[in-house]
Amino acid sequence: MCGIVGYIGNREAYPIVIKGLHRLEYRGYDSAGVALINPKKELNIYKKAGKVKDLEDFAASSDLSGSVGMGHTRWATHGEPNDRNSHPHQSGNEKLAIIHNGIIENYGPIKEELISRGHTFKSDTDTEVLIHLIEDIQKNGNLDLQEAVRVALHEVIGAFAIVIMDKEQPDQLIAARKGSPMVIGVGDKEYFIASDATPIVEYTKNVIYLNDNEIAYLKRDELLIKSIDNIVQTPYIHELELKLEMLEKGGYDHFMLKEIYEQPRSIKDSMRGRIYPNEGKLQLSGLKQYEEKFKNADRIIIVACGTSWHAGLVGEYLIEEFARVPVEVEYASEFRYRNPIISEKDIVIAISQSGETADTMAAIELAKERGATIFGICNVVGSSIPRLTHAGVYTHAGPEIGVASTKAFTAQVTVLTLIAFYVAQIKGTVTTGKLVELLTELESIPTLVEKALKANDLIVKIAEELKDSRNCLFLGRGSGFPVALEGALKLKEISYIHAEGYPAAEMKHGPIALIDAEMPVIVIATKNSSYEKVISNIQEVKARKGIVIAIVTEGDTDVKNMADYTIEIPHADEAFLPLIATIPLQLLSYHIAVMRGCNVDQPRNLAKSVTVE
Ligand code: F6R
Repeated sequence: MCGIVGYIGNREAYPIVIKGLHRLEYRGYDSAGVALINPKKELNIYKKAGKVKDLEDFAASSDLSGSVGMGHTRWATHGEPNDRNSHPHQSGNEKLAIIHNGIIENYGPIKEELISRGHTFKSDTDTEVLIHLIEDIQKNGNLDLQEAVRVALHEVIGAFAIVIMDKEQPDQLIAARKGSPMVIGVGDKEYFIASDATPIVEYTKNVIYLNDNEIAYLKRDELLIKSIDNIVQTPYIHELELKLEMLEKGGYDHFMLKEIYEQPRSIKDSMRGRIYPNEGKLQLSGLKQYEEKFKNADRIIIVACGTSWHAGLVGEYLIEEFARVPVEVEYASEFRYRNPIISEKDIVIAISQSGETADTMAAIELAKERGATIFGICNVVGSSIPRLTHAGVYTHAGPEIGVASTKAFTAQVTVLTLIAFYVAQIKGTVTTGKLVELLTELESIPTLVEKALKANDLIVKIAEELKDSRNCLFLGRGSGFPVALEGALKLKEISYIHAEGYPAAEMKHGPIALIDAEMPVIVIATKNSSYEKVISNIQEVKARKGIVIAIVTEGDTDVKNMADYTIEIPHADEAFLPLIATIPLQLLSYHIAVMRGCNVDQPRNLAKSVTVE
């Protein structure tokens, strides 16, 4: 949540910062701001509630000069999203400016103390308190800014990625992180700072991922990184694999649509080099050294949030079915505040697209403290979760910019499928012959997903019929149930239509009361073990005049005769159903949201990376 960008070098900073903010806007988009030091050493700050574009329009005729600058796009935590609460914030003497991603949890008592010492505040934010604290420490301790920042960071509790500018030292930026991401791009006599690599990749491929409790002092031709305890660090320069075209819409109207259509590629990339169908074998290097742990695990606990939690539910089905290990799937936000019973024989799998979700990180810390072995399934290379875990497997979905998760979900499910088969392989719960069959079919899934995408035109027509609905019910059984949950989440988050996902058989225990001629019910009714049962559920809906939209296996006639609309998907083993049945639901949500005039890529109140609990 919140995106931060900084630049120091010999180019004009503003175009770099503003472009960076556009790239990071998916992280938060309720207000934005920039700070620049111009050649006359004046500090200019422009900030505005609304999108980065609103800020651009607002600042267009102002002094935007300067080769040192920073910018922020906000997802409000403390203080409503208005101009006043937008970042950057300034110290009382207006010499210092700060941008911040994260939360200062103890800002209340610090603020009270500072007020008692004469500080006055212009905003309701925790961030403004931090910059006043730094100013206060600097003044009262007669310290230089570097030392004042270091001392102040010892006093605050919480998470931060911050950048600080001082108009009296215009050739320097100070950046620090704890718990919120920060990447430094290393150029030729220039440095870039950002919440992730997306604003940096078009200028340099060389990046440093700042670690927790590190402070970076950046000048045009010098970078010094020290720990918060003042020990000089030796940074490791990574080479980015990210390509610029991955960050563009590539001719699609929205990132979400592009990402839906990327799924044949992203699923393939997530299994590439990891499966050997002819031999019935898998190789997951991340799991290799923990084979014994998996063989002897009492249980696997999956922790995640949102869409990643839905992927976890699919994982539960697959791991129990094939590897015969009991699985529990937990909302990370609940798990972290219970007193969960965890033993050293438990394996915890944390799933996160962003690798930054605060609740998932806290759940990992807790499970780690209690001795569990932790695996990560993450999409963003170099993010925080892969660093917290003992080992893991990356999903190779590529950058997901649309706030609603699509290709990351199917990539997570792909990796969970691999884990289920891998553990089955090492435990011998599935024969090599069966693995040959399963892996051969898995290899063909990208092609089947491509086929499923061909239903787009029909889905546009169905969307036209459903776009004015006020509620929608999504039903599925077995691994179709998490698909129903995910379908409902996609619809509600981008179209603002209320939607619920339910196990189809549970409908009669409550939700059936809602069904009337106005209620669309989207049913996963593919030919698998629960097909007959789902048909009965469809009949129950039709008997109450509900509108049935069924996702069926191609060639199906039984459901077709009952449903109002059917969307065909290619036949696949039940194990792979979620990878295919999810596709039409993503397209349906997308088209409905577009028809309703919603901002599909940046739905209201949401942010891509939820770094607050
Ligand atoms: C929904 C969505 C969210 C995320 C959730 C977890 O489309 O994207 O529900 O799945 O915020 O985020 P990650 O996977 O980054 O931990």
